[in-house]
Amino acid sequence: MDIKVRVWRQTDPDTAGKMVTYGVKDISPDASFLEMLDVLNESLILDGDDPIAFDHDCREGICGACSMVIDGVAHGPEKATTTCQLHMRHFSDGDVIDVEPWRAAAFPVIKDLVVDRSAFDHIIASGGYITAPTGAAPEAHATPVPKADADLAFEAATCIGCGACVAACPNGSAMLFTAAKVAHLGLMPQGQPERDTRVIDMLQAQDDAGFGGCTNMGECSQVCPKGIPLTLIGRLNADYRKAVRKKI
Ligand code: SF4
Ligand code: FES
Repeated sequence: MDIKVRVWRQTDPDTAGKMVTYGVKDISPDASFLEMLDVLNESLILDGDDPIAFDHDCREGICGACSMVIDGVAHGPEKATTTCQLHMRHFSDGDVIDVEPWRAAAFPVIKDLVVDRSAFDHIIASGGYITAPTGAAPEAHATPVPKADADLAFEAATCIGCGACVAACPNGSAMLFTAAKVAHLGLMPQGQPERDTRVIDMLQAQDDAGFGGCTNMGECSQVCPKGIPLTLIGRLNADYRKAVRKKI
C-alpha cells in the first residue's frame, strides 16, 4: 500500500503545532498502524529529520499508551481497539490519513502525538486504593462475592487508562475512566471502607485536573477499547449522591 499521512508535529508544549504531510510507500496491509509509523520514522531519520514522537509500550492492547486520534476517531476506525492493534488493512491504497494527539485540556501535548496523561495518575492517587490487609493469597471462599458483582468488577477493572474516552468526549470528561475505577473497587467487599471517600475524592481530583463535566453524550463508551459500559457512570453518580448525603 502507498498512503499519505498528515501528522500533527509540535516540538514542545509551548510551540504551536501544525499538520505535516508525509508519503509512506510499500506498507503491508498486515502491518499495524504503529509499525507503519516506525517505517515512516526510519525514513525520516535516514533523511536527517526529527522522527515523529508517539507513545507505545506493550503493542498488545494492554498498556493503553498508544494514544492518538486517527481520521478524527480516538484509536482510529476499527471499533473497540487500541492503535497498536489497528492494522493497515482497515485503510485503502492511496488514502490520506490524519493523525493527531488526544485533544483535551487535561492532556497537554508534550511533543507531536505524545500527551501528558498524568492527570489520570492524580485521580487514581486520590482514591484508587484499598486499605484491607493484603499479603498471602486468602482462601478463595473466605470472602464470598456475588457472581454478578465479581463479573462487573472484573469488567470495570479491564480499563487500561488509555484516555480515549476523554479524547472522544466533547467536554473532555474523564467520567468513564473514573467510573470504571470507582466500580472495580466499590463492587468488592474489600473496597467498602473507602467507598464514600473514594468517590468524592476521585471526582474532586477529576475536576481539579481540568476535565470537563459529563453530559451523557456517550462518545466515551463508543471508542473505549475495553468496552467499559456507560452504565458505570450512572453507578458512579448514584454512589456519589449517597456519599454526599451521608456526609451532610
Ligand atoms: S474507560 Fe476505556 S477509553 Fe477510558 S481510559 Fe479506560 S479503557 Fe481507555
Ligand atoms: S502500546 Fe500498549 S495498548 Fe497500545
